[in-house]
Amino acid sequence: MAENQAWQTRLTQAVGRCFGRPHDPQAGPVWASAEHVYLFDVEGKRYLDFRCGYSAINFGHTPDRLIKAAERQMRCLSQLTQLPSTAMIEFAEELLAFLGWQAGLGKVLFNVSGARAVETALKIALRNQPGAIVCFEFGYHGRSLATQPFSDAATFSVDYPWPGIWNGPIYRFPYPSDAASVQETVAWHDVLQQIDDQLSRCDVPLSAVLVEPMLGARGYIAPPNVFFQELRALVHRFGGLIIADEIQVGLGRGGGRLMSHTQGWQPDLVVLGKSLGGGLVPISAVVGTAELIDSLPNGSESETFAAQPLACAIGSAALRWLTEIESALPSIGETLRAIFRDIQARWNLPVEIQGRGVVAVLDWRDGWPNSTEANGALSEVARTVSLLATECLKEGLLLHPSGPSGNRMVFLPPLTVTAEQLAEAGHKFEAALANLLRK
Ligand SMILES: Cc1ncc(COP(=O)(O)O)c(C=O)c1O
Repeated sequence: MAENQAWQTRLTQAVGRCFGRPHDPQAGPVWASAEHVYLFDVEGKRYLDFRCGYSAINFGHTPDRLIKAAERQMRCLSQLTQLPSTAMIEFAEELLAFLGWQAGLGKVLFNVSGARAVETALKIALRNQPGAIVCFEFGYHGRSLATQPFSDAATFSVDYPWPGIWNGPIYRFPYPSDAASVQETVAWHDVLQQIDDQLSRCDVPLSAVLVEPMLGARGYIAPPNVFFQELRALVHRFGGLIIADEIQVGLGRGGGRLMSHTQGWQPDLVVLGKSLGGGLVPISAVVGTAELIDSLPNGSESETFAAQPLACAIGSAALRWLTEIESALPSIGETLRAIFRDIQARWNLPVEIQGRGVVAVLDWRDGWPNSTEANGALSEVARTVSLLATECLKEGLLLHPSGPSGNRMVFLPPLTVTAEQLAEAGHKFEAALANLLRK
């Protein structure tokens, strides 16, 4: 690891420390190149990437098909600022059709980062009805100054010495789960009651509820579908909008084109990002009725690189690719979870295998008895996850250690992964388990 360490030293000398991930047991390597599902570090070691940039790289690294689309567009027209392009108009039309909007009823606004698209959705909600914003514990909506207050307070937020940019109240509620084993869960109907009580008590109207259909950053936890259906009704009763942040779980990852649709509810606004640009370019979007999207006045939304023709052309190619592969996604997710169910049974692991769409989650209920190595102030379970993730890294397997109390291991292969690569992940995971037990 000497070369990785030398690069890490250069990193700390040249790049601000807030970019660092001291809590992440897989943060050691520095990455030099990639090919489909594999990443290579500066020492040339190959890793199976089942972290996938938290779903930004859903088509794998260096995707030939998207690179060809990018090259075509780069040689034609790559950047404009605030001027219309054929690539942008086509992408907007294709995205709306892909999400089931009839011509003329829906509209889209593009931006660059996920956080900026969340801000745009909040701007629309605030124009619809100024007032309070409701969000959820363990949620993640970005780290810009405006979105940070809605992201998990304990992990992602920093207290700045001024009260923040939000004048209206922000109410945060527990995020329910349908998995009995998920720690610290609250029943979904209790959460709804808490929200109802709070909104009835306060004299500020409701502007928006901002919610992920499944928690991305904190461990791919999903409430029962009925929670969202009831939440939507409650939000509308108070005159607000319900915004689905599908930046991480939309576009095939959580199941279906939109996870909210597979859960049987229709958000007022949907926010997309990450894999929308095929993992090659940053592009994000807010989608809703033409009336809502056009409630923002002329010229009130713009960024230099928003709706860049290059990004739009790649986005169109990515959507067409997703349309071709979407029917295969349920079986990929099932195969992935079956591999871990089989390992769980053979090793008698104290975990429950969860996940939807193309996601497998190992929810640890007890620590692994042999994981006695000291590791700061982590709980037994979090220590096990951390040590096992370290062993996985040594075996060349990247995953997303996560969860409300560091208790979950999340596996996110590209949607274009092969059966052999899924099996390879299982073998590497078992080798990591064996290493941990030998200690
Ligand atoms: C659910 C969700 N919302 C918002 C964001 C912020 O997106 P970005 O990092 O592109 O600003 C993320 C990023 O991880 C996310 O997962």
